[in-house]
Amino acid sequence: MSLNEKLLRESFHEAVEREGLVTTRFYELLFERYPQVKPLFGRKSTAEQQKMLQETLLAVLDHLDEGEWLTETLGGMGRVHVSYEVTPEMYPWVGECLIAALAEGAKDCWSPAHAEAWEEAYGVLAGLMLAGAEAELAEASSTSIAPTATLASLAVERAGASRVFHRHRLDFCCHGEVSLEAACETRGLDVNDLIAEIQAEDAPDSRRWDEAPIPELIEHILNDFHTPHREELGRLLGMARRVEAVHGAKASCPKGLADTIAEVEQELLNHMAKEEQVLFPHVLAGHRPVVPIQVLEQEHLEHAENLERLRAHAHDYDPPAEACGTWRALYLGLAQLERELMEHIHLENHVLFPRVLERRPQPV
Ligand code: HEM
Repeated sequence: MSLNEKLLRESFHEAVEREGLVTTRFYELLFERYPQVKPLFGRKSTAEQQKMLQETLLAVLDHLDEGEWLTETLGGMGRVHVSYEVTPEMYPWVGECLIAALAEGAKDCWSPAHAEAWEEAYGVLAGLMLAGAEAELAEASSTSIAPTATLASLAVERAGASRVFHRHRLDFCCHGEVSLEAACETRGLDVNDLIAEIQAEDAPDSRRWDEAPIPELIEHILNDFHTPHREELGRLLGMARRVEAVHGAKASCPKGLADTIAEVEQELLNHMAKEEQVLFPHVLAGHRPVVPIQVLEQEHLEHAENLERLRAHAHDYDPPAEACGTWRALYLGLAQLERELMEHIHLENHVLFPRVLERRPQPV
């Protein structure tokens, strides 16, 4: 750092030696010239606050050549100052009063060169604190969740949101345009509890599919949804048939569930075939297939109704006491399929389709 250490040190020591705690005068000047900052102070006693400021300035003088130390220490202080409600426009006020207090304290030892050296040094100090403050604000805004955000947007932006919505049976895939607070009200849930749950589930390193290239998104849909759905539906159908064959006489047996699964399977297989044979090739070729998207969106609504049907047929996936292992595994598997299918529909409705429709219409 090329700050004029000699001038800074001699004026600071002169001021402190002559006037004792030069920071006393600094606070007097600050509150006199900018009374609006007074309410921000008061957590610490005035004496303590003055001592801390003086010690910090001395420590900074001792580390003027250590860029890393300065960045870390002052950046950290800038972050803490955000919680004191200090805003960027206040930094020049503090600089002005601090330099005025030093000038008064150093008296005839003070020269324009000292003023210049302090202005430069304060600029560096304040810049590093402000960088920390900015980072703090950016992190806070990226982790905060507005109750007015829609379920769909949260499911796009927050890795854990769809898991939380699924847990509380909030439909984020086909009716995701409703706000979090409205959805919570309908279900009698506390919106703040939900926000805390979403934040706790957040995995900061998980993939943001709204920012991924479209071919990668399509590959993800094929590998992580289409292939597993095909395997899973066949497996669940087999299990449902076994449960009905063995436990059909029991009143709690979900009779007819296997036929419902077979219908859902057929519809889903047809739907995925349309995506694989028509939609995805068009999208990958750079087209904007509006009509196929409308058809598929309509089919998504039907899938959501099917999921409701399956759940109602299978006692809300709550197995009765007499349920055997297969029966229990069947309900667990269906609940898992429901979660994955909702995630799949959500990715298409709220990420893939809007991105494709944003493309410029092709000339006819
Ligand atoms: C380069 C500039 C600054 C330096 C070196 C500095 C230094 C400090 C230090 C060492 C503390 C005490 C330790 C702590 O709580 O973090 C503190 C607290 C504080 N500072 Fe600053 N500060 C600076 C800028 C500002 C600005 C621009 C304001 C806005 C008015 C401000 C307002 C406060 C407040 C309100 C507190 C808490 C005091 C209390 O709780 O009573 N500071 N500052």
